[in-house]
Amino acid sequence: MNNIRTLISEKEIATAVADLSERVAADFVDSQLTILGVLTGSIVLVTDMMRQIELPHQLGMIQASSYRGKTTTSGELRINIDFLPEIRGRDVLLVDDIFDTGKTITKIKEQLELFEPKQIRTAVLLWKKSRSEVEATPDYYCFDIPDEFVVGYGLDYNGEYRNLPYIGVIEE
Ligand code: IMP
Ligand code: MG
Repeated sequence: MNNIRTLISEKEIATAVADLSERVAADFVDSQLTILGVLTGSIVLVTDMMRQIELPHQLGMIQASSYRGKTTTSGELRINIDFLPEIRGRDVLLVDDIFDTGKTITKIKEQLELFEPKQIRTAVLLWKKSRSEVEATPDYYCFDIPDEFVVGYGLDYNGEYRNLPYIGVIEE
């Protein structure tokens, strides 16, 4: 087992997610809210948020997988919408674990627009501001983090570490 250096503690996450949920709840009063999580990394954030957003809302999950070619920078993104609920005319909050280059969320948002929701806003736990490669920014985020590869609270390294209750960096 590798050593993990804590970057953001469980307590700091809890406080930030409570604050995020409060902001979302205030902004989506009287709307037809659908929380849409991006599998798999968003599941911890989504389940924490949905229990703190005291508004009637629907929940959906979509899956995005990027097939990176030989060049690691750009890859084709495939979006699986088999579990997408009806979002036409609804207020969608698209939730992911991290906004890194921003390409994933931007492409998912473009695809979702085809289903004619009333609006789509985006929320992430982490934002690596220095890495952004798109003009868009997340509408809601909890932490701006440096350009380090992080795990925990849903984020994985080779499929593992998602269960860590904090955000950490794997030490060599
Ligand atoms: P983007 O398209 O570059 O914004 O990448 C988003 C996806 O890359 C996220 O949904 C994560 O699955 C993955 N990712 C980016 N940075 C990290 C990291 O530091 N740890 C774990 N996964 C990451
Ligand atoms: Mg992901």
